[in-house]
Amino acid sequence: MSAADRPVLVVDFGAQYAQLIARRVREAHVYSEIVPHTITAAELAARDPAGIILSGGPKSVHVDGAPGLDTDVWDLELPVLGICYGAQLVARDLGGEVSRTGKGEYGRTDLEVLAPGVLFSGGQPTHQQVWMSHFDSITTAPTGFTVTASTTDVPVAAMEHVGRRIHAVQFHPEVVHTPHGQAVLEQFLYDVCGCAPTWTMGSVIDQQVAAVRAQVGTGRVICALSGGVDSAVAAALVHKAIGPQLTCVFVDTGLMRQGEGDQVVETFQRHQGIELIQVHAAERYFERLAGITEPEDKRKTIGELFIRIFEETSGGIEDARFLVQGTLYPDVIESGTSEAARIKSHHNVGGLPEDMQFELVEPLRLLFKDEVRAVGTELGLPDEIVWRQPFPGPGLGVRIIGEVTPERVAILQRADAIVREEVRAAGLERDIWQAFAVLPDIRSVGVMGDERTYAYPIIIRAVTSEDAMTADWARLPYDLLERMSSRIINEVQGVNRVAYDITSKPPGTIEWE
Ligand code: XMP
Repeated sequence: MSAADRPVLVVDFGAQYAQLIARRVREAHVYSEIVPHTITAAELAARDPAGIILSGGPKSVHVDGAPGLDTDVWDLELPVLGICYGAQLVARDLGGEVSRTGKGEYGRTDLEVLAPGVLFSGGQPTHQQVWMSHFDSITTAPTGFTVTASTTDVPVAAMEHVGRRIHAVQFHPEVVHTPHGQAVLEQFLYDVCGCAPTWTMGSVIDQQVAAVRAQVGTGRVICALSGGVDSAVAAALVHKAIGPQLTCVFVDTGLMRQGEGDQVVETFQRHQGIELIQVHAAERYFERLAGITEPEDKRKTIGELFIRIFEETSGGIEDARFLVQGTLYPDVIESGTSEAARIKSHHNVGGLPEDMQFELVEPLRLLFKDEVRAVGTELGLPDEIVWRQPFPGPGLGVRIIGEVTPERVAILQRADAIVREEVRAAGLERDIWQAFAVLPDIRSVGVMGDERTYAYPIIIRAVTSEDAMTADWARLPYDLLERMSSRIINEVQGVNRVAYDITSKPPGTIEWE
């Protein structure tokens, strides 16, 4: 196997840093995975990596319980790149010195390249801006290392041992605030590890098609389509692999966005030629939701009914043994770590109970979201699906405060469609994480024509975010808000007022329930 086919493994000393590094490596078309820092040298060797990258992490290698690396890893003679905390581990483990100089660096910092060495030979300037975030500093490089860069406060900002193929940088090449960071990473990947830029979405599809075929053989596979990106791309990929052995189940809860149900059927049945069972379940949902106003009750009711309907439907598909899930790589990395406090009981339409007797098929489990989108496009899915904004499993049910009734869903669907149309027309769709409408259970007085009105307000919610863990309210242009407001009031009966939610997360959540 050549280095071109072998992964570059990112050893995780701090999950956010590690994920970003792996993404950057993949952007250089080299396959990368994240491994925990508790991995042993033997386990690492068994993965046969082309090289390893030690990620950033906690502030200091000196604090009690600071994570380390199995020291036998150094005997594997693998190419190594240490970044920030990882660089300090290189220094400490190989006999250099890491000290508390009292001169930590945070943010944009000027770096002086003393000798291009290997990492700075990609045409980078001698003086460049880098992003720093460290408290301790490497004060002495280990024997045999050459110092290749420094900053005003830090004598060893980059060092290398060319013979041992070990490199270390105190700065973060993976962040956008280090403009030449990707070039530094690519020098390591191509020059030090000997990797070739062969990992593309086309190669991912080929690999996954082969893997799905090997896993399911001639078995029958089912997939719950939610209309969201992940289940859509997973279904399209599995269909490419096994064609008619796949049946998709689409439960139309009546709580989807305007036109969404039809679009799912249009895309999957007509264009992709996937066998699709559409279950019209709106009436059952409305019946079950009558009188329920408490958010968690609503979520639970919607989730349970979905499972019931899915079980009824999939039970009718003979011999179905496999279930497609749109699990993504961040979920895989994060599972196993302590679960964050439960703020809301999330019900993912793809998330089915554990006691269902299916073997899971998870063709996206090694991909990040942006890669899933690229695979979707490559598989011919339309932009409306590939670039669809996240949508909660319980659908509009959690955007209607108070009781969910067909009339109130209809009001919200129309208002929501206007919000999204206007965001798209303003060319802001891809800059905004989510933009939607919320229907509260209050009414207010207004005047339209000469008439007094007493009707619902609509709340517009639009946020920017990287990962939905935190979010900021989007600074939408006033003109855009004005267009949304007047269209909603003119076009949606039952609404006489529009408000804009200017709460970030925290303290608010993105959804209202
Ligand atoms: P919150 O409201 O907790 O939402 O800030 C964070 C992100 O998660 C989405 N969301 C859900 N996604 N099932 C899902 O698959 C759910 O039950 C669910 N509830 C919220 C929400 O739209 C936002 O992107």
